[in-house]
Amino acid sequence: MSPVFAANWKMNQGPSAAAAFVQTFVAAFAPRGDRTVVLFPPALSLSEVRFRLTERPDIHVGVQNVHAEEKGAFTGENSAAIARDAGAEYVLVGHSERRHVFGETDAESARKVAKVHEHGMVPVLCVGETIEQRERGTTEHVVLHQLRTGLSALAHADMLGCIVAYEPVWAIGTGRTATPDDAAAVHRVLRGALLDEAGAGASTIPILYGGSVTPANAATLLSADEVGGLLVGGASLDPTSWATICSA
Ligand code: 13P
Repeated sequence: MSPVFAANWKMNQGPSAAAAFVQTFVAAFAPRGDRTVVLFPPALSLSEVRFRLTERPDIHVGVQNVHAEEKGAFTGENSAAIARDAGAEYVLVGHSERRHVFGETDAESARKVAKVHEHGMVPVLCVGETIEQRERGTTEHVVLHQLRTGLSALAHADMLGCIVAYEPVWAIGTGRTATPDDAAAVHRVLRGALLDEAGAGASTIPILYGGSVTPANAATLLSADEVGGLLVGGASLDPTSWATICSA
């Protein structure tokens, strides 16, 4: 399975900054067939990023969120159909900031996953426990509930078209990375649940790790059992550091 390298820019890099980023990044990272690279710019920068990547079909793009409804009176929101029309191929769903800052529930994530799939894009379902949940020993319970509920509106065969990202909330933006062993332990639990839900084919669903990934720790995390890629925030904002991570 070739690893997936996903850059979540969060609320950073408008169209001009995004254009400058892409120019530097494509010069630093040559196309290679043994990995998948996906950029998640803010929605308003997506068209600019796509335009700048015209000569680089090996680099994919996505959005960080969509609304669960097909269309309608939802001022300020973007639908899956709009994201697809703008060129998104992937959509982050249930990122911890959506859950904890914007109150997104597992049930909403499930509806978004189904909507994203319906519109022919790949949902990247994010799961992860808070530090309190980890200290209480409920990590497995929390991530399994997020995973099972998040995928519950999909037919089993359609789950095979998803990506899962494990992002412990305590590791996001804190500089406190999970150890490769900690990551592997949770990834194995997630893999087991995916195999239960979707059958043997689920062995190829990529499970990404995210949370304070840097050029210095990327290769070690990537070598952990069942870690099929990286979902990177802060360190993906610098094109040189991102190119180094994508070369891990
Ligand atoms: P950091 O890499 O900044 O910790 O963010 C991780 C993340 O939330 C990616 O989605």
